[in-house]
Amino acid sequence: MTLVTAKALEKTYIAGDITVRAIRGVDFVIEPASFVSFVGPSGSGKSTLLNMIGCLDPPTSGFLEVAGQDVTHLSSKESARFRGEHIGFIFQDFNLIPVLTVFENVEYPLQMVQNWPKEKRRKRVQELLKSVGMADQGAKYPNQISGGQKQRVAVARALVTNAKLVLADEPTANLDSKTSNRIIELMKDMRDEFGTTFIFSTHDPKVMKNAETIFTLEDGRWAG
Ligand SMILES: Nc1ncnc2c1ncn2[C@@H]1O[C@H](COP(=O)(O)OP(=O)(O)O)[C@@H](O)[C@H]1O
Ligand SMILES: [Mg+2]
Repeated sequence: MTLVTAKALEKTYIAGDITVRAIRGVDFVIEPASFVSFVGPSGSGKSTLLNMIGCLDPPTSGFLEVAGQDVTHLSSKESARFRGEHIGFIFQDFNLIPVLTVFENVEYPLQMVQNWPKEKRRKRVQELLKSVGMADQGAKYPNQISGGQKQRVAVARALVTNAKLVLADEPTANLDSKTSNRIIELMKDMRDEFGTTFIFSTHDPKVMKNAETIFTLEDGRWAG
């Protein structure tokens, strides 16, 4: 079964008398366990597209199906539920909660969407921290670890609920190039280990070359 199907997908922002056609009719499919990059210059529509796939922002027109469900017209309540069950997110500024430890940050989505007993949560969090190479850092706070380590924690957090789709909007934008490559490698390893599909956006050619499938955007359409 295809994981993401988009047909004639469009997103238009209207602010006052300014209309921006951010995504102008794109079609694509993304298969399970794939490792995909959306690339293109700033303003080309990468975030808009990821936000629609992640059910953070509804399409203006067209058709969008994710994980077997038509998500084109979800209410905000349905979207929130769908995200919690099916999608993990990784952000360029990491978005860890500063007052929670590394362990608690990874545990947080389990408490939000899955009513697991404490010991089951602990095992699951520890398994994920181990997978991302942070097994012995769980007691630290985000301000006590490096940017690369923060993004490892964010990868663990995105995977902890066993989401089959992880969306990462410019996940390496705030990392140096060596650390960037390591994070992309880590995401690919996680794809291999858990069968999770990753879609990440970037405008960095060194980062995009690590993807297996590349979709290039230009002014809200596929380039070329
Ligand atoms: N909330 C919004 N309101 C109005 N215009 C927006 C909004 N978000 C994005 N845009 C516009 O849509 C276009 C695509 O933006 P975006 O998806 O953020 O591109 P990228 O992530 O590739 O930099 C840009 O012209 C941007 O200014
Ligand atoms: Mg963007």
